[in-house]
Amino acid sequence: MPSRRTFLQSSLLAAGAAALPRGFAQIRASGAKVVSTWDFGVPANQAAWAVLGKGGSAIDAVEAGARWAETGQCNSTVGRCGYPDRDGHVTLDASIMKGDGSCGAVAAIEGIDHPISVARKVMEKTPHVLLVAEGAQQFAVSEGFKVQDLRTPEAEKAWKAWLKTSKYQPEINVERRSLPGNSENHDTIGMLALDKEGRMAGACTTSGMAWKMRGRVGDSPIIGAGLYVDDEVGGATASGVGEEMIRNAASFLVVELMRQGRSPADACREAIERVVHKRPAASKELQVCFLAMNKDGQVGAFALHKGFVYAVCDASKQDALLPSQSIYTTDRT
Ligand code: GLY
Repeated sequence: MPSRRTFLQSSLLAAGAAALPRGFAQIRASGAKVVSTWDFGVPANQAAWAVLGKGGSAIDAVEAGARWAETGQCNSTVGRCGYPDRDGHVTLDASIMKGDGSCGAVAAIEGIDHPISVARKVMEKTPHVLLVAEGAQQFAVSEGFKVQDLRTPEAEKAWKAWLKTSKYQPEINVERRSLPGNSENHDTIGMLALDKEGRMAGACTTSGMAWKMRGRVGDSPIIGAGLYVDDEVGGATASGVGEEMIRNAASFLVVELMRQGRSPADACREAIERVVHKRPAASKELQVCFLAMNKDGQVGAFALHKGFVYAVCDASKQDALLPSQSIYTTDRT
């Protein structure tokens, strides 16, 4: 039992810590850095670094990086080249979050090629966090976004080929192979940035699973599932089959584990173990990946299966691509 004196001392220390200005974390920042999921994270990080490297804010950096992923490449799982749902509609999900808790998201939005920027407008211009479907599109149009047909000829061809069997079977890490019914459909971009002021922000954007049911929303626009950021601790983001992240409030879990003193890699590993513990059989078939960065700029990742890579960019190196460790380490091919 602590003595009354010890108790009072620790209470005063705790009260003092609580009274510190939120900017206190800023003093401890180790330098600007941006990290993101998968190999396309390298150019996306570079787009973010164009902002961050000049002393720009973490929130502007993650928006710039995510925007690159949405239109600067043609990828079947993010933005304008995303594969459609089973009815042929390309529907996009995105979220953005600042380390002070401000956040915004859109889900199942159609015809808008930069859902991440609409998510930011939701954060900055509405009293809400998440707008969906027609309402999200209506809001985007009111903010000056143009409605376009996002379905590419390649996506259309893949969808028509898939319709012949209509078999839906997500597979692990078979990126960008346009095999109907067999496409990698969960390599979302999740990005976390730390700016030179020590502020953090994150962004997550995806077209979700190819051939998903109409109306299906994944983890990416769900704050706490696909993305969570807290300036006092750090941030986490996710890629993979979003239902697992939602079931486990996984990005929030990773941040809370870091709050308890776990390293980013260890926190990601624990969250992956939680996924396995809850659904051991399903976990053998699905890919789930976490990426985290704490407020001191330490980075870690962990995945269920082999194959997850993440990109790290700071003043010393702008094109690092690192393999993540995983629970299951054998090749499935
Ligand atoms: N992680 C993206 C999704 O499941 O939609």
